[in-house]
Amino acid sequence: MKKLRVIQYATGGAGRQAIRGIAAHPQLELVGLLVHDKAKVGRDAGELAGIAPLGVSATDDVEAILKLDADCVAYMALWNDVDLVCRILESGKNVVTTAGLLYPKFFGQELVDRLEASCRIGGTSVHGTGINPGFSGEVLPLTLSVLNRRIERIFVQEFADYRTYDSPEVNHGLLGFGRPVDEVLANKHPNFDLAMQFFHQSIAMVADGLGVALQRIEQTVDYGITPGGAKIASGPIPPGTIGGMKVRFSGIVAGQPLILIELTWVAAYDLGPGWPGPDDASNDTQWSVTIEGDPSLRCTFEQSSSFERADHRESHTEPAMICTAQHAINAIPYVCTAAPGIRTFLDLPLMAGRPNWN
Ligand SMILES: NC(=O)c1ccc[n+]([C@@H]2O[C@H](COP(=O)([O-])OP(=O)(O)OC[C@H]3O[C@@H](n4cnc5c(N)ncnc54)[C@H](OP(=O)(O)O)[C@@H]3O)[C@@H](O)[C@H]2O)c1
Repeated sequence: MKKLRVIQYATGGAGRQAIRGIAAHPQLELVGLLVHDKAKVGRDAGELAGIAPLGVSATDDVEAILKLDADCVAYMALWNDVDLVCRILESGKNVVTTAGLLYPKFFGQELVDRLEASCRIGGTSVHGTGINPGFSGEVLPLTLSVLNRRIERIFVQEFADYRTYDSPEVNHGLLGFGRPVDEVLANKHPNFDLAMQFFHQSIAMVADGLGVALQRIEQTVDYGITPGGAKIASGPIPPGTIGGMKVRFSGIVAGQPLILIELTWVAAYDLGPGWPGPDDASNDTQWSVTIEGDPSLRCTFEQSSSFERADHRESHTEPAMICTAQHAINAIPYVCTAAPGIRTFLDLPLMAGRPNWN
């Protein structure tokens, strides 16, 4: 069987796991690697991902990547560059991405038309995915909802421990961990709203999946201040700065909150009442979806390096980054065979991973 030729874009937390995932997938072959960081140019993809060399060197030459013969680009750069996504699509390569574009319809017809036009030119498809958004906020609630006779409310909760998430740009720049709350509020990161809209896209997709008309999305952000401070993988969290945040989104349908998402992101465990305490630090990152209705359903979903093996590693981030990347990597064969266009979870068939015993 001819393998699908894949180019990886970016080698951050998700990108490094994606390279491992492509190397392990029986239907995929890594043929190119695009990086942003000039220091990584020329280095082997396997080496950057912490596995054996794969014989593919990193480049920052976008034009060379666009000319390369490949079936798909796994786009996992920090920010989504729609111009670049369109050029990749027009060059005849499908795109799977964790960097947004989960439900382009949310952003309006102009973006949809632009992406669809590029897909038509290249005969390609684009699919946005991840663990949340991508799985916990869309696939899981929509899948559960098929068991319901009546749905009053869908409540998606994410609890994420950021202590081992090694992304200074995201933790300290985008979210504001380790910075005084007044300073963060006065200097909102230019991509903060866009990052929050990742989750607005989830709500819009779930509403369309349920066949209901979404009226609006309400959003609140609360910060938790750490009195003692902390030292996390991405840098220091000084005492008196932001050590946690809670973001709540509420999708209003027929005047009522129907689809709710609550994100609790913590980098310290001394934030006080209403926040996870020191005893919760071992709970690791997890998600739950509750559907209040007839019947009421709840699914809690955990991830770990293992629930059985003795060599189980304590990590709050690595399994989540594997899930994030792998949802995109496992989608590649489905996206490459889909009809050209924007292909969301509402368009693609039920997707599955591939057992790999190597
Ligand atoms: N949906 C989900 O569940 C989910 C979960 C986690 C993350 N994400 C998203 O996935 C993407 C990657 O996340 P991550 O955790 O891997 O982030 P990360 O660890 O911060 O890495 C992002 C990578 O992007 C590249 N980069 C840095 N600055 C850039 C710039 N200005 N323009 C273009 N590329 C740049 C770098 O790649 P090189 O080092 O190779 O140069 C960097 O390593 C982000 O968009 C993030 O929001 C989604």
